[in-house]
Amino acid sequence: MIVAIDGPAGAGKSTVARALAERLGFRYLDTGAMYRALTWLAMQRGVDLSDADTLTQLALQEPVTFKDESRVWIAGMDITSSIREQRIDRMVSVVARHPGVREIMRDRQRELGEQGDVVIEGRDIGTVVAPAAEVKVYLVADRDERARRRTADRPGIGADALATDLRIRDEKDAERMKPADDAREIDTTHSSVDEVVDKIEALVREHVSA
Ligand code: DC
Repeated sequence: MIVAIDGPAGAGKSTVARALAERLGFRYLDTGAMYRALTWLAMQRGVDLSDADTLTQLALQEPVTFKDESRVWIAGMDITSSIREQRIDRMVSVVARHPGVREIMRDRQRELGEQGDVVIEGRDIGTVVAPAAEVKVYLVADRDERARRRTADRPGIGADALATDLRIRDEKDAERMKPADDAREIDTTHSSVDEVVDKIEALVREHVSA
């Protein structure tokens, strides 16, 4: 079974998707980490991030891999913590915009998603990567709350700067942030992680017993 969890930055996708996967005994796939890893490598190699062809080649030649579920590797390096830096937050949408890059990522995400029960989180999972996913959820939260969560995730960076970055990234990601028609929208603004996971687990159980 595939559980697709989409939504904007700071809506709680990663925390919820991980907890849900653990509760259900499903694998977990973080597709944002794949775009982040490619962005990291491109910046490290000095690639012009507007150069679609070079980025597409790089995505093809250097696939992102996951080890022990949550360690992110590219080109023989474990870059799990580096991909959460603010410079990556700021540039990842520029890389994720190129259709060639997206095609390669989509195919790889489908391959990774094929191997049994999985929770996949991203922006376009329910619409593009896994339109046949059995359960689709679209998480939302008020922008202030999303900015507050980002501040907790990125200690040392000012709240105002993070709120501005979030707004700019929302704008850049907007065309890919459409919920699937059959996705269930869940507002996480006033909910705990457990409450959100309970709701999605109920959708999964409903599907299994249907
Ligand atoms: O979920 P995240 O913040 O780690 O995602 C990083 C960026 O990657 C986000 O700004 C948009 C892009 N992304 C995407 O375009 N499609 C996905 N399936 C996942 C992420």
